[in-house]
Amino acid sequence: DWKMDSFVEASIEAIREKVGDGKVLCALSGGVDSSVAAVMLAKAVGKQLTCVFVDHGLLRKNEGDEVEAVFGPEGPYDLNFIRVNAQNRFYDKLSGVEDPETKRKIIGEEFIRVFEDEAKKIGKVDFFVQGTIYPDVIESGLGKSAVIKSHHNVGGLPEHVDFKEIIEPLRLLFKDEVRKAGLELGIPEYLVYRQPFPGPGLGVRIIGAITPEKVRIVQEADAIYREEIAKAGVDKGLGQYFAALTNMRSVGCMGDERTYDYAIALRAVLTSDFMTAESAELPWEVLGTVTRRIVNEVKGVNRVLYDCTGKPPATIEFE
Ligand code: XMP
Repeated sequence: DWKMDSFVEASIEAIREKVGDGKVLCALSGGVDSSVAAVMLAKAVGKQLTCVFVDHGLLRKNEGDEVEAVFGPEGPYDLNFIRVNAQNRFYDKLSGVEDPETKRKIIGEEFIRVFEDEAKKIGKVDFFVQGTIYPDVIESGLGKSAVIKSHHNVGGLPEHVDFKEIIEPLRLLFKDEVRKAGLELGIPEYLVYRQPFPGPGLGVRIIGAITPEKVRIVQEADAIYREEIAKAGVDKGLGQYFAALTNMRSVGCMGDERTYDYAIALRAVLTSDFMTAESAELPWEVLGTVTRRIVNEVKGVNRVLYDCTGKPPATIEFE
C-alpha cells in the first residue's frame, strides 16, 4: 500500500524532527494502537524512547511474555523496554471488591500509580506517547455518550509525570488504517489482528471478587477456547470471543465424586462497531470440543455455558 507507506515514512520523519534529542515515554499495553504507536516512535528515535509495560495480572494466558518477546531486548526493535510485574499490587487492592465500577476504578487508578512510579525512576521526559486513534478523538470530542461503564484505556494520561508535549501519531487513522500502518512497520500479524482487549483485562471477565485462583481459571479456559476456535478456522468474522468466569458454582459429578465447582461462560459476538452486537452461532461441534476440554483440563470448573445474548440488552464484556 503505497499511501500507507508514505504516511508512515512522513510520520517517522516528522516525529524525529519534533523530538530532536528529547526523551520519550510510552505506556505500552500490547494492544494494537499502543503497539503501532510505540514501533513508529522506536523507528523514529530509537533508544530515546522508553516503553513501560505494566502487567496487572489480568492479562490473557502468556500475554505478558508475548509482549516482551516483541518489544523486549530479544525483539527486533531498538528501544528501552521496562516490564513491571505488578500482579500482587493489583490483587491486593482488588481483594474482596465485588462491585464492577469499583473494580474498574481501582484497576485504572492503580495502573496510573504503577506507571508513575516507573516514570519517576526514568527521570525527566520531554514527550509522552499516546495511541489515540481517530474514533477516540471523535468520541471524547462529542462527549455525548452516557457513562455506562467507566472506560479505562491503558495508556491514559498520568497526572504526576512532567512532560512538555503529547505525541499522538495515530490521531488521524481509523482502526483498519492503524492495522495497515502496523503491517507496514513490520509488526507481526498476530499482534496487528488482535481482537480488542479491555484495559481492565480479565478483571471485567471475572464476575465478583477477583482472586489469583479465579484469574488462573479464566486464563486457562480462555486459552483453550481461542485455540479451538483458531484450529476450527471459525474466527474469521467474529468481532470478539472469550471466556468469562461466572460467580456461580453448581453441583456436578466427576467419576464417582460429587463436585461443586464454577461455571465458565463462553461468548462470541458479531459486530461492526462494538456499540451493538449479536451472539454468534458457533458450530455445536466446536462448542462441544471446547466444553470437554475445559471441564477436563481446568481445575475448578464443572460446567460450561454459552452466552446467546446480544448487545443491547447485554454488554459484550460481563462487567
Ligand atoms: P462493552 O462491554 O461495553 O464493550 O459492550 C464494548 C467494547 O469495548 C471494550 N471495552 C473496553 N476497552 N477499556 C477499553 O479499552 C475498557 O474499560 C473497556 N470496557 C470494554 C470491550 O472489550 C468491547 O470491545
